[in-house]
Amino acid sequence: MTSQKHKPIRKAVFPVAGLGTRFLPATKAIPKELLPVVDRPLIQYAVDEAREAGIEQLIFVTGRGKTAIVEHFDTAYELETTLQERGKSLDVLEPTRVLPGNLVTVRQQVPMGLGHAIWCARAIVGEEPFAIFLPDELMIGTPGCMKQMVDAYNQVGGNLISVLEVPREDVSSYGVIAPGAKAGDGLTEVTGLVEKPPVEQAPSNLILSGRYILQPEVMRVLENQEKGAGGEIQLTDAMAQMIGEQAFHAVTFAGKRYDCGSKTGFIEATLALALEREDMGAEVREIAKRLLGS
Ligand code: G1P
Repeated sequence: MTSQKHKPIRKAVFPVAGLGTRFLPATKAIPKELLPVVDRPLIQYAVDEAREAGIEQLIFVTGRGKTAIVEHFDTAYELETTLQERGKSLDVLEPTRVLPGNLVTVRQQVPMGLGHAIWCARAIVGEEPFAIFLPDELMIGTPGCMKQMVDAYNQVGGNLISVLEVPREDVSSYGVIAPGAKAGDGLTEVTGLVEKPPVEQAPSNLILSGRYILQPEVMRVLENQEKGAGGEIQLTDAMAQMIGEQAFHAVTFAGKRYDCGSKTGFIEATLALALEREDMGAEVREIAKRLLGS
């Protein structure tokens, strides 16, 4: 059995302190992570993906105005009582339930970058390997992206990041890997990492797609991490320092990724997921055809 070799991944950090300025005015009073793709808030997809991968503890790195995310995962007595009185099923609320104690929040008081946000969770993460989910990246697959990564982790241990290919001209918006030797199906060693490189300096067109399994040592590296791209403390820079010290692999996600950090990506996700739904797919297809005039 390979699955016992490495410490299990039981905790996941969700950096959700961002202001969501690209979606203003929608995100003035509502956290971006609660914007719905069809009928589920974005954060719910990430949490569902985490649970499928066996993660128990959810750690939200939040900021001012983000408490509604925590409310979403709380029991809503009035709502539930009303639904029950009306003879309605509560099944729809099932994904929002969390075992007592399994949701923890920490605050990132000042937006200093992704690396800093992750570092804010250090006391809760402790000395265990942990997962990170960037909820803007909506990953749809069977199994889900993190489950694919945990399966790979059970083989190789160490640190893993999910990657995907983008057109070369787009690499400077992302973290980019220098790929090394193939280590298995969809698994590659990582020999270098660079955050938002100029196109001509990018080591590949394989970008970090918002899912990580990291060893707790990264917190020590982040502690002393200097500012990087965009004047922010970058997680990518801290990870780059761990290459050579610890195993580092990239998992090419077999599935579909939607960039819900952009408006068009958000619309694409909504349309794609609606088209796949049994209860509305056919109707949405008709609507789309009508709108396209064909
Ligand atoms: C972050 C990471 C970057 C990654 C990207 C994925 O960048 O720093 O490495 O490729 O998420 O969406 P951000 O989009 O926060 O600038």
